[in-house]
Amino acid sequence: MIGFHKVRSQTQIAAVARLAREIWTAHYTPIIGRAQVDYMVQKFQSAPAVAAQVDEDYAYYLVTSDAQEVGYLAVVPDVDDGSLLLSKIYLLASQRGHGLGKEMLRFVEDLCRRQGLGMVWLTVNKHNAAAIAWYERMGFTNAGPIVQDIGGGFVMDDYKMEKTFD
Ligand SMILES: CC(C)(COP(=O)(O)OP(=O)(O)OC[C@H]1O[C@@H](n2cnc3c(N)ncnc32)[C@H](O)[C@@H]1OP(=O)(O)O)[C@@H](O)C(=O)NCCC(=O)NCCS
Repeated sequence: MIGFHKVRSQTQIAAVARLAREIWTAHYTPIIGRAQVDYMVQKFQSAPAVAAQVDEDYAYYLVTSDAQEVGYLAVVPDVDDGSLLLSKIYLLASQRGHGLGKEMLRFVEDLCRRQGLGMVWLTVNKHNAAAIAWYERMGFTNAGPIVQDIGGGFVMDDYKMEKTFD
């Protein structure tokens, strides 16, 4: 049974940071290399970084399956734009391919509907082929390249993907 737990406490923030380090190191090292993974985890997914995002406009959710913490997601709603940024969607490798990601996306789309938002968008690394194929299967379309300088001599070399719904 899947569960979604809005991240508020320091304990929950620490759990997100732990999951992020494990998932990002395993998943992104072959894609962007260890140096950029370490830089991005520190800058965007360390406990202080997640805490700062939660204090601003990010909503993080820890995802549990049978009461075990198996992943997390983060969203940034933009009511004026009528859209929602799906900033993070990550599962431990052992938990993939069993339908949990689809339920996470359904949860995100329900959040949108409740807030009257008709579009979800995200950015995905151009070489994260499995995730791109998954997003396409889930109904997203590729809206083109988006390159962002993140400092430290690194860039995020991504595609923007989006999905509109009723
Ligand atoms: C992306 C991710 C969240 C998807 O979650 P998941 O639990 O593995 O996906 P699901 O099992 O819910 O898949 C849902 C459907 O997509 C299909 N699917 C799974 N992986 C796929 C892939 N790589 N390409 C195409 N279809 C795929 C499934 O067969 C399933 O099909 P169905 O509609 O017939 O049921 C998860 O794989 C993940 O954490 N990946 C690594 C991290 C990552 O890259 N995150 C995105 C960062 S931008």
